[in-house]
Amino acid sequence: MLKGKIAVVTGGSRGIGRQIAIDLAKEHATVILNYSGSVEQAEKTVQQILDLGLQAEAHLCNVSDEVQTKDFFSDILNKYERIDILVNNAGITRDGLFVKMSKDDFESVLDVNLKGTFFCIKQVARQMLKQKFGRIINMSSVIGLVGNIGQANYSAAKAGIIALTKSLAKELGSRGITVNAIAPGFIDTDMTKELSPEVKEKVIEQIPLKKYGTPEDISNLVTFLASDKAGYITGQVIQVDGGMVM
Ligand SMILES: NC(=O)c1ccc[n+]([C@@H]2O[C@H](COP(=O)([O-])OP(=O)(O)OC[C@H]3O[C@@H](n4cnc5c(N)ncnc54)[C@H](OP(=O)(O)O)[C@@H]3O)[C@@H](O)[C@H]2O)c1
Repeated sequence: MLKGKIAVVTGGSRGIGRQIAIDLAKEHATVILNYSGSVEQAEKTVQQILDLGLQAEAHLCNVSDEVQTKDFFSDILNKYERIDILVNNAGITRDGLFVKMSKDDFESVLDVNLKGTFFCIKQVARQMLKQKFGRIINMSSVIGLVGNIGQANYSAAKAGIIALTKSLAKELGSRGITVNAIAPGFIDTDMTKELSPEVKEKVIEQIPLKKYGTPEDISNLVTFLASDKAGYITGQVIQVDGGMVM
């Protein structure tokens, strides 16, 4: 139960983030999610939560923009006066072979995934230190552990998130703040919809459990890491990948 807890989920409009928002709300947290473009999807997520008699709101905020993240978090703090759980889930891909990868493709992926995570943690860290409590959960990827052809930008960003997670776990731990990363394998969302059936088949061959994961497979772990039951877990990278990487 997360009753009384204030939870922020970045990129909560669609995919994994939407499921995380719904499941944290089902644990009775008040959920604030943000999105960068999908307003209808964000409203749909919020409505789904409100229809269950639970609490949620959505804000437009591009996490790669420092000013927007400052405004987003100061609005939340003005209204709720605390933030207990931060899930840095917002992410994008701009895949392409390295020799053809533009500076723009490299930077935009670093900006949203890694710098966005940095900006958001920056906005909550002081408050969590004051509270002497916080749960920070960062979305990495198995690609951040093992790399991938065509994803030099994404793998660098996701590996950066792992290193950021470990450093902050060390820096913030003495004040009751845990910082963990989740490394999903292939999860069925818009992000993986673009893959051709042949590529999908090849991916499934490499997964011992022989199927893609679902957003629920990830949100189950987020809900656990956010709970009191996970109070002695910090600095970890937990894979949810059907055994794909071991
Ligand atoms: N799907 C997978 O197989 C997989 C595997 C490993 C890791 N992950 C990671 O899991 C996270 C969620 O992935 P997903 O599959 O759910 O992706 P998705 O379906 O493409 O959804 C991405 C979410 O991030 C939001 N977002 C994107 N750019 C943003 C920005 N600049 N500011 C704020 N929000 C932004 C999107 O909102 P808007 O539409 O409003 O922009 C959307 O809500 C990502 O970090 C991804 O890298 C996914």
